[in-house]
Amino acid sequence: MNFAIIGCGFIAKKHANAIQQINNANLLAVCDRVPELMDTYVSEYGAVPYTDLEELLKVPSIDVVNICTPSGTHASIAELAAAYKKHIIVEKPIAMTIDEIDRIQAAANKNGVKLAVVHPNRFRPAAMKLKEILNSGTLGKISHALCIVNWNRGQEYYDQAPWRGTKQHDGGVLMNQAIHNLDLLLWYMGKPQEVYSMEATRLRNIEAEDVSAGVIRFESGALATVQASTTVYPKNYEESITIFGENGTVKIGGRNALYFETIDLKERKEVEIKKMVDDINSNPWGTPGHEAIIDNMMKAIEKDQEPAITGEDGRRAVQLVLSFYESAKLNQPVKLI
Ligand SMILES: NC(=O)c1ccc[n+]([C@@H]2O[C@H](COP(=O)([O-])OP(=O)(O)OC[C@H]3O[C@@H](n4cnc5c(N)ncnc54)[C@H](O)[C@@H]3O)[C@@H](O)[C@H]2O)c1
Repeated sequence: MNFAIIGCGFIAKKHANAIQQINNANLLAVCDRVPELMDTYVSEYGAVPYTDLEELLKVPSIDVVNICTPSGTHASIAELAAAYKKHIIVEKPIAMTIDEIDRIQAAANKNGVKLAVVHPNRFRPAAMKLKEILNSGTLGKISHALCIVNWNRGQEYYDQAPWRGTKQHDGGVLMNQAIHNLDLLLWYMGKPQEVYSMEATRLRNIEAEDVSAGVIRFESGALATVQASTTVYPKNYEESITIFGENGTVKIGGRNALYFETIDLKERKEVEIKKMVDDINSNPWGTPGHEAIIDNMMKAIEKDQEPAITGEDGRRAVQLVLSFYESAKLNQPVKLI
């Protein structure tokens, strides 16, 4: 199956490496507005470089495009790709507004192409194990959850490119960094109903927020607290999710939500819990998420089924972030937009 990467910046390398790891996957072409950014893809992967997106999309043998451009450009590129009947893997966030997401989903549906969103954390062993624990009902009735992303992105990170930290093309810590953990939170806790959020731009010279604190009420009645920042000194401090149920408390944490930091389960034996923890600790990253998502897209095409992480999943995560933004703007609780 032939892939093409659109946008050859930071995250594109992960896509190219992942494609190379998968049997029967081939990086056929790349596209960037800056020609020299494509050089390594030509020399290392044998990809054909294009500065004109439409010229690339006209190549009939390209099956899937991986959209790795700034977030505010995802919608127009995805729409065009769908019109050329290319399946789409789009980086997170799927897009910046609900209107843009509507356009992407409508274009994918109309042209009968698959649409997958890159939320790679779902494929991490601890994250998958926590989902399994929740599905088994072991935790009993869920009371609440805690979702934390306290990371560091210095001013130099935002100054790398003009789109970073802007409301139109990037968003702040919620839309760019915390969206991974928020996607996990939604996966675990179900549909949110109402949010109340405050945000600030405290330490970075950017338009969007660099720190955010909020609460969510889910349709189940459970609550969650969210804290997210890129202002932590001197480096990433914590990415974690803790779930509190009547029969158990589980926290996946560390700097990247990779490890069980707490796992107290009433109905499970200590030896069973120790094995779970040891299994995770022996291989905390598991299969790289990008590889899992690309491999999953190939299977979805072959078997004509939905990808594991759909446009709808991408939409739910953005909807939650936009609801936080709306609540912060109005300084009052809001129903999910
Ligand atoms: N899944 C993850 O863990 C993860 C991590 C980092 C970034 N991302 C996402 O990936 C996307 C890109 O982020 P990045 O850090 O790689 O950005 P980047 O600025 O490093 O790279 C973006 C590239 O896109 C190119 N580009 C811009 N507009 C284009 C267009 N219309 N056509 C072709 N090329 C174009 C730019 O020249 C640049 O090389 C963002 O949506 C970001 O949120 C995801």
